[in-house]
Amino acid sequence: MSIKRVLTGIRPTGALHLGHYVGALKQWVPLQNSFECFFLIADVQALTTHVDRPELIEQSVHEVMLDWIGVGLDPRRDNVHFVLQSGVPELTELTVYFSMLVPFSEIERNPTIKAERSSNPTAGFMTYPVSQAADILLFTPYPPQASDALLVPVGEDQIPHLEGTNRIARRFNKQYGRVFLECTPQIGEVGRLPGIDGQNKMSKSLGNVISLKDDSKTVESLVKKMFTDPTKIRLSDPGHPFECPVYLYHQAFGGSENLGERADRCSRGLLGCVDCKRDLAATLNSFLEPIRARRAEAEKLPLGDYLYQGTSRAKQIGKVTMEAVRKAMYLDYPSVFGGVK
Ligand code: TRP
Repeated sequence: MSIKRVLTGIRPTGALHLGHYVGALKQWVPLQNSFECFFLIADVQALTTHVDRPELIEQSVHEVMLDWIGVGLDPRRDNVHFVLQSGVPELTELTVYFSMLVPFSEIERNPTIKAERSSNPTAGFMTYPVSQAADILLFTPYPPQASDALLVPVGEDQIPHLEGTNRIARRFNKQYGRVFLECTPQIGEVGRLPGIDGQNKMSKSLGNVISLKDDSKTVESLVKKMFTDPTKIRLSDPGHPFECPVYLYHQAFGGSENLGERADRCSRGLLGCVDCKRDLAATLNSFLEPIRARRAEAEKLPLGDYLYQGTSRAKQIGKVTMEAVRKAMYLDYPSVFGGVK
């Protein structure tokens, strides 16, 4: 029988926002129906940027679980596991072994690392792609069969890390024998949602986010501040909807609404930005309402128990993988211990 698993993760560095939803979370939800899913809260990776704010990470682990349940992930299902990265020591061990297989220059060339790194990055920061490879490959179905799958649904900025992960899998298998399955990336439709400034990717550090937990008044006021087509000043000016972030949000969250008509009315000067934004706030609020309701319900659930159970299942799998890894690398020392453990 083939084994199909999903592994993906997020850094707990604050409440999740619409950018997380569009780029990643949206595609995670349906996977729960056909896979054993591991949703990793990457608290160790969060330390690469927030080593001076451990209390924020601590709170965010809780927030992330609420946001996840809000969007429809369900840790009450037997096949859905919330995993705390620091609770799985096998990940740390695998990271160390993998780090021997990765030339440092390869990490320096990684475009995501290039974009994120400061002028004097820590060793921990520079090696996080290796740790991310461990996050993924620890969940390899072992022994891997051709019909097995390890699916990694992520936003497009994570692609360099998944390519690096598969290079590690190939190198390991070639050097030590086949232990790992290469992962299969799955990228969301709208890779990147701009922030409300319309310029940059939505990101907490840029202060341009709409959070999943924002209430309806906050959403209204954030949408009012949104950047629109600068050449459309009066209602009757012809707009350029395909270059307007407000229209992009209508596309991402408008569901069944008639977008063609909206674009047409905008470009013909029949729809003004104020009205278009008022519609968007309503659209976003009706999208967010069920998320807020499930999030509020989740406050009453035993989240710690789910995280503990999910992490235990991850450790169980990690134990099997690590035994195979140590054996493949001769780290079980048959000549010393005679194969006795
Ligand atoms: N790098 C991801 C982020 O910044 C988080 C992450 C950690 C991850 N480990 C992972 C994503 C493994 C996918 C697979 O949000």
